Amino acid sequence: MGHKRTVKITTMKRLKAFLPRRKSRGGSVGLVPTMGALHAGHASLIRRSARENDITVVSIFVNPTQFGPREDVRRYPRTLARDIRIAREAGADVVFAPSVREVYPDGFSTYVTVGRLTAGLCGASRPTHFRGVATVCAKLFGMVAPHRAYFGEKDYQQLVVVRRMVADLNMNLEVVSCPTVREPDGLAMSSRNAYLDADARKQALVLRRSLLAAKALVERSGVRNVARVAAAMRRIIRTAPLARIDYVAVVHPETLEPLKTVAADAVAAVAVNIADTRLIDNIRIRAKGKR
Ligand code: PAJ
Repeated sequence: MGHKRTVKITTMKRLKAFLPRRKSRGGSVGLVPTMGALHAGHASLIRRSARENDITVVSIFVNPTQFGPREDVRRYPRTLARDIRIAREAGADVVFAPSVREVYPDGFSTYVTVGRLTAGLCGASRPTHFRGVATVCAKLFGMVAPHRAYFGEKDYQQLVVVRRMVADLNMNLEVVSCPTVREPDGLAMSSRNAYLDADARKQALVLRRSLLAAKALVERSGVRNVARVAAAMRRIIRTAPLARIDYVAVVHPETLEPLKTVAADAVAAVAVNIADTRLIDNIRIRAKGKR
């Protein structure tokens, strides 16, 4: 099967020159923001965008502003040549891979903070993370002016935060959410899985197992009490000696407020360090009627 050409662009100037010409022919533009080290999860977002738009732009930018002071941006995997191949095979027209100076030139001083939604879950242990995510997404939306932008449900809080920003700041685009792509054994695909050695990789399955247990407790056993659900999740995670729990939570799917009882739709979410690697995952829970 022949793939179309994929253009690699690294500067705003070239992006500006390229996109309006394509857009003036009447095409819609889809944007898939990534930090690279692309895997099948990213590819599913790119394929979806390629199906739904005339032009698909994949941005690859390891965004320094979303890493905390104790997190190492330099350690993040960089595999640009391979990423371009994966993006092309999934149907990308443009890979936009700007430098840090291109995105944050001297004098840069404007940040987007999304309140409330960023206080809990990952925001609690990574207080500046979502400010960095919102800022870089706002910038990418400004640079590419996409009709649609694609985000994975794997990073559930990020998805909700970006949706909120787009609504609150009247950004003229549709945020499209895409289901989590998993390894055959259930581990959510993540660029960070590359950090796991064989033992840690096996123990990482406790995230998914704890979430499936939470879903079964609510949907099949009729448990409504979140404290009970969370205790069961923690017990499962603790069976992995390398696991250190950051949080176990059951929250409202839109407000992300912690729930005490599950009476309607909810999201169970976990963040766990396995050895030195922080992994997250979540699952949608649908409570049918009250008991
Ligand atoms: P990154 O971790 O590279 O993820 C890019 C996009 O791919 C995000 O929308 C993420 O939710 C999605 N994704 C990651 N793993 C997935 C999986 N297993 N299944 C489905 N989708 C998955 O998230 C970021 O980068 C950054 O924060 C970014 C939004 C690019 C801003 O810098």
